[in-house]
Order: sequence, then C-alpha cells, then structure tokens
Amino acid sequence: MYRMSNLLKIFLVVGARPNFMKMAPLYLELTKEKGIKTLIMHTGQHYDYQMSQAFFEELDLPKPHYYLGVGSGTHAGQTGKIMIESEKVLLKEKPDLVVVFGDVNSTLACSITAKKLFIPVAHVEAGLRSFDMTMPEEINRKVTDGISDLLFTPSKDGNENLMKEGINHNKIHLVGNIMIDSLITILKKIDKFYEDKILQKFDLQRGNCVLITLHRPSNVDSKDNLEKILNSLNNLSQKIPVIFPMHPRTRKNIDKYGINLTFNERFNISEPLKYKEFIVLEKYAKFVLTDSGGIQEETTYLNLPCLTLRPNTERPITVTEGTNELVNMRNIEEKVGLILSGSWKQGKTPELWDGKVAERIVKEILRFFRGSMIKSAVRLYPDF
Ligand code: UD1
Repeated sequence: MYRMSNLLKIFLVVGARPNFMKMAPLYLELTKEKGIKTLIMHTGQHYDYQMSQAFFEELDLPKPHYYLGVGSGTHAGQTGKIMIESEKVLLKEKPDLVVVFGDVNSTLACSITAKKLFIPVAHVEAGLRSFDMTMPEEINRKVTDGISDLLFTPSKDGNENLMKEGINHNKIHLVGNIMIDSLITILKKIDKFYEDKILQKFDLQRGNCVLITLHRPSNVDSKDNLEKILNSLNNLSQKIPVIFPMHPRTRKNIDKYGINLTFNERFNISEPLKYKEFIVLEKYAKFVLTDSGGIQEETTYLNLPCLTLRPNTERPITVTEGTNELVNMRNIEEKVGLILSGSWKQGKTPELWDGKVAERIVKEILRFFRGSMIKSAVRLYPDF
C-alpha cells in the first residue's frame, strides 16, 4: 500500500473558494518539513479569477501543481468529472496521503477517488453537521467523514457528532479552526493605509455599513425568495449603507429570473472581493448578513455581529459562544434593530482558534505515518 521512498508525498485537494484559505496554512506548514513533498491539486470547481487565482496570490501559494479544469455542472456531472480527472493524477503520482478540506463537491469527489485507490484520506474540518440533508454540503460532509482515515475537527461538537456516528475515536483529532490561521495571517498584513484605500474605494466609513454575502441554493435558487431578500436589503440600505459582493451563482440567478429592481444609491453590489479587501470590510462593518459557513466563524473571531439567513448551521459554536444568530425573513428586521441599537451579545473566541491549527495537523500527520510503519517516515522523524 505504501511507497518505501524517502519522501512522503502529500496531496492537498482544493476546488472552491472557501477551500483555499483552509489549505494555505497547511501547505505552508508542510513545506517546512524536509521529508515531505507537498503537491496542490485544484479541481477547477471555481475558475473565475476573483473566485480562485486571486486567493492563491494573496495567500502566498504557488500555482497548483495539477489543475483539473472541471468547471461547473450538475452535482453528479461535476462530482463525476472531478473523480475521473483526479483518478488519473492520483494513479500517476501515487501519493501517501490525500488531504481534503471543508464540504464542497471537490472534497467529496476526491476523498472517494483516493480511498478506492487505497490512499489514506485526511479531512480538515471534519465532524460539522447541520442535520439538514437538503444541503448538498451535508451529504458531502457525512460521506467524506465516513471514509476518512484522519479527521481533524475545528471544535468539540465535531468530535461529538463523529462519535455518535460510530467513527473510531483514534481517527478523530480536535485541532481547532484552520480558517482562523489564515485570518490571523492576513490581518497582520493589513495596515491603516490599505484599510483607508479599501473603505474609500467603496465609499464606506468604519462601523457604518452592512456587509452581505448570499449564495446558498435555499436563498438564491428560487425567484420568489431571491426577490424578497433583495427587496428587504434594499430597504435596509435606507437605514445604513449596504455592500454586497455578489457570488456568481447569485448574479446568474438574478439574470436568469429577470429580476429588475431599482436599487437605492446606498446599496452597492460589487464583484466578488479579494480576501484582503473582504476582511477589511468585515473588520469595519456594523454587522454581517450571510449564508456562508466560514463567515460565521470569521465574525465570531472578530467579535462582529453576524446574522445568518439559514434555518440551521453546521457551526453551532458560533451561536453558543460567538456573535452569530440564525435569522429568517420574519425576524430579520427585529434582529437588525437590536444590532443598530447596540444591544447585541458579546462573543468569545472558541478554544484552539489560535492560529496554530496547521502546526497541530502536521504533527498528527507525522504521528499517523509513524503508526502505519512507514519506515522512511520513522527514519526521517525519529522524535515522533
Ligand atoms: C460551492 C459549494 C458551497 C460553497 C461555495 C462557496 C458545493 C456543493 N457547493 O457553491 O458549499 O459554500 O462553493 O463559494 O460544492 N460560477 C462561476 N464562476 C466560478 C464558480 C462558479 O460563474 O468560478 C457559477 C456557475 O454558474 C456555477 C455556479 O456559480 O454553476 C455555482 O457554482 P458551484 O461550484 O456549483 O457551487 P457554488 O454555489 O459556488
């Protein structure tokens, strides 16, 4: 099953925007290890410059070693294409470990492909559950966790969910939230000059705007829902400026449904933003309204009020410990009122969201290879 060469070969698989900031800290940490060769495989699930390449540049990542160019499609079409293309690469390269991130179709496709080639799989951000099987991501999470050999969880609820599903506890490692590693790094690169430039670019002031991101099928794949949401945001912009960097899925649906609203002057719809730009707006927004997973976590770290327009979340710690609350179209106005009047809850940073997650993962990976009797790894890392 294992190659007996001197180097451990590790493949990091990414495909969609939120994967990139989860992979970057691990790539940078793995490349510090002399005995490991780390390769990045990008499936091409996201392909627009602003959704993909821009992040590689900002996160100090090299060009992916393999780019599969799979693109968009139906769930089966996209997942199937990723499996077919990734299998060719994995057969050729025969890595010792494939690491997948998060819950997107690329995560699912490559974990199945690797596992059927008897290549061990590590899942970063394991154990999260929304308990909502209408979400494609929930299916992706459950299947990936069910077949992974190493499961790295961001918070205790992840461990509990996995144990309840009967996953062997020896495979589960509570390491913390790797996305916060990237957030901490990028925050250090942002200075006042850059902040002023970005705030000016969007004509915004510190603490006086709402940042919106919406792209989930449940919010944007029905004309009625999307129209209602946009109308309500347009009304909100009469109270406070709104900036809405729009995901391609949302933009395409607005065109497809022929939604033709006259937006208020203070309702600013932009292209998807670069990571650094987005974090500046997140840092200085009055609050965020989102249906994203990662943004619920970033706002908790930044202690910024977050309204999540979803009936559930796979990241409950952002509600119980952080600044996040779930909202719907019936109570959103009331919740906005609470934030604007300054009576929102204070959050705290969850345990192990400390910028050292990648280090802990590398340690566990090395321990895993020692445990599976790879002689070369043991020779190279006698301390483990
Ligand atoms: C995907 C993930 C979702 C994640 C989101 C982050 C799945 C099932 N969904 O959703 O979990 O929260 O990424 O952004 O994996 N498109 C472009 N350019 C791009 C990418 C997409 O125009 O670079 C358009 C295409 O019309 C495409 C649509 O957006 O059909 C949706 O893309 P897709 O990758 O299927 O899902 P996302 O909605 O981006």
